[in-house]
Amino acid sequence: MQLKASLVIPATALGFAGTAAASPITFEARETAMDDYLYVCTDVDWSGICQNLGFFAGECYNFPAEFQEDISSIGPPQGWECVIYDNYNCDGGYDLYAVYPGNAYLNETDYNDVLSSFVCTRT
Ligand SMILES: *[C@@H]1O[C@H](CO)[C@@H](O)[C@H](O)[C@H]1NC(C)=O
Repeated sequence: MQLKASLVIPATALGFAGTAAASPITFEARETAMDDYLYVCTDVDWSGICQNLGFFAGECYNFPAEFQEDISSIGPPQGWECVIYDNYNCDGGYDLYAVYPGNAYLNETDYNDVLSSFVCTRT
């Protein structure tokens, strides 16, 4: 399986406000060519370190090092379903199926601080 580099767009570069818990994804700055962005945070309730991770449909990405096994909030954009894996390279493991607006309290699931890779497809 081909290992793809994670495509990380700093939230600041996207003009992300970072306050609205009800809508964790902003769509203002879409100049780049990514299909969309998965919003992740290291703590519950969209707190801690947060980033919008750019992705292309159907492509598997390993989370950047600072998010490996440290994600506690995860927010797919509208119109997508993301499968999140506890192994690298979207390989086996137990999977979390996430749709907008996502889950801000992974600490109440089996998926807290275990996630390693993701792939998103349009719904
Ligand atoms: C998850 O985190 C929230 C916020 O800190 C807390 O209120 C809640 O009790 C936690 N749930 C579990 C199962 O630890």
